[in-house]
Amino acid sequence: MHERRFPISQVHKLEDPERRKWLPPDEVMRFLDIHADWTIADIGAGIGYFTLPMARIAAKVFAVDVEPGMLARIESRLIEAELNNVVCLQGEASATGLAGSSCDCILMANVWHEFDDHAAVLAEAARILKPNGRLAVLDWRADFDAPPGPPQAHRIPKEVAQFAISDGGFRVHSVCHVGTYSWFLMGLRTGEGEK
Ligand SMILES: C[S@@+](CC[C@H](N)C(=O)[O-])C[C@H]1O[C@@H](n2cnc3c(N)ncnc32)[C@H](O)[C@@H]1O
Repeated sequence: MHERRFPISQVHKLEDPERRKWLPPDEVMRFLDIHADWTIADIGAGIGYFTLPMARIAAKVFAVDVEPGMLARIESRLIEAELNNVVCLQGEASATGLAGSSCDCILMANVWHEFDDHAAVLAEAARILKPNGRLAVLDWRADFDAPPGPPQAHRIPKEVAQFAISDGGFRVHSVCHVGTYSWFLMGLRTGEGEK
């Protein structure tokens, strides 16, 4: 595991009720503008901080994470919440195992700075998204220093992510700040040869 990967030993940080104040899930849901018939992939889902609110709106959510301990937490939260439209999958962002053109939307929240190979992650996102599907990336602002969040040196400015996403075949639809410490970027999957 590389040094930027979020360790399961720190899972209490994801579960901290204070988080809801500086990163309100409802605010993110508004930016996502989820439709009731959508299939969504939550990549790097963690404990399901966003998986569950998305599952309350969308038809189906795939929660993908490399860490089985995180997925186990989502599973128990799903039972408690009586939600049965989420499928938990152990997988890599660059190789999710999801079918091609199967998703209307992908969320990558607080995981962009943990990826080693953004081009490979974007190629996988383009593969699993339907034409004109949405890629939403949310991560830590680089103009703040920790805490909370990763050290300054691990943070990626939104402008850098924006460049990577358009280079990876997505049309940037919107870029903004969300909550207190985060940026949010929405890209649309473009067609073949179109940018
Ligand atoms: C900081 S947590 C964020 C969890 C959740 N998205 C949230 O905002 O609460 C990052 C999660 O991404 C997972 N992760 C990191 N790198 C990954 C990769 N390459 N593929 C899939 N999951 C990954 C970690 O195991 C961890 O659960």
